[in-house]
Amino acid sequence: MTDSLLFSPITVRNVSVRNRLWVSPMCMYSSVDGFASDWHQVHIGQYALGGPGLIMMEATAVAAEGRITPACLGLWSDAHVEALRPVVDFAKAHGATMGIQLAHAGRKASARPPHEGSGFVEIPDGGWTPIAPTAEPFPGLAQPRAMTGEDIAQVITDFADAARRAVAAGFDVVEIHGAHGYLVHQFLSPLVNTRTDGWGGDLVNRMRLPREIARAIRHEIPAEMPLFIRVSATDWVDGGWSIDDSVELVRVLKEQGVDLVDVSSGGAVPNVQIPVAPGYQVPLAAHIRAHTGVMTSAVGLIDNAGQAEQVLAASAADAIMLGRRWLRDPYTALNFAADLGVEVEWRRQYSRR
Ligand code: FNR
Repeated sequence: MTDSLLFSPITVRNVSVRNRLWVSPMCMYSSVDGFASDWHQVHIGQYALGGPGLIMMEATAVAAEGRITPACLGLWSDAHVEALRPVVDFAKAHGATMGIQLAHAGRKASARPPHEGSGFVEIPDGGWTPIAPTAEPFPGLAQPRAMTGEDIAQVITDFADAARRAVAAGFDVVEIHGAHGYLVHQFLSPLVNTRTDGWGGDLVNRMRLPREIARAIRHEIPAEMPLFIRVSATDWVDGGWSIDDSVELVRVLKEQGVDLVDVSSGGAVPNVQIPVAPGYQVPLAAHIRAHTGVMTSAVGLIDNAGQAEQVLAASAADAIMLGRRWLRDPYTALNFAADLGVEVEWRRQYSRR
């Protein structure tokens, strides 16, 4: 045995995760009509073999118009469940805990996949009119339509329905995507949400959408199932969403049964000076954890075993999510374990390595 924190198990609600080194959600732009494909099977499957504790499936749209791009994954019908189930089954059979990030892109919908350049997809080319808190576009993206009260009610229902389908597909954890300038964050940020009805204005009104979504999801998923939210803890702009607002939000969401906050930042508005550096978002995770008593995961430019171990040792977070590192090395968990001198189990098929 070892005294590594990274490779110690963690229990969230009734779910026990084998270690604290997790796969951050990453869009694959490999779906047609929102369906999981062979790509997801192999991509997620290779991570499961490489030993992370939890794999968070990419941003998965709760409605077709909530996809970031036409090639994004979705869960807006029961048929989508069937496509995801084998992906989940394989990963779980190899010891990974499976999470899914439920998302609505709001005014950042109908964008081009990054490998096709920037900007948005025009309607004749398969794009659509996004919905958003107001008709103000994100610079360079499609012109949205301001949401009515009925649109907002429908989005809340869509999140709840998608969560029910996530349970049916076998996922262990549901995460609300509340970060990176997508719909939930658009409602939170005063830089974007200038509505004058009960969904805009003061902090309480701007927090209403995630509060209602969390409440609706909690109603649909088993009491034993963990509910996470990814937040952008700050807009990194004076007058924007702040770390103090995030603490308030997490206190409110804790009451609604949110168990863990996956702490990221930025994305609401362009051209922001972000102090990008190794571990730059870790202090945000630490602040939220210290001021709310809610578990956090840290993400962003964490790239080696010692650094990850140190974040946990400092009680800044309860788990570590890595993104790009996994793209370069699907065996990151096995390699980090070796770096830390921790014995972990390799797949029996590879025992002669
Ligand atoms: C991302 N990221 C991301 N974040 C998120 O919340 N949902 C998503 O679907 C995606 N998609 C995505 C795709 C790709 C290709 C990359 C590289 C990133 C952000 C990601 O989860 C992570 O927060 C960042 O990459 C920062 O962590 P790293 O890469 O520095 O470990």
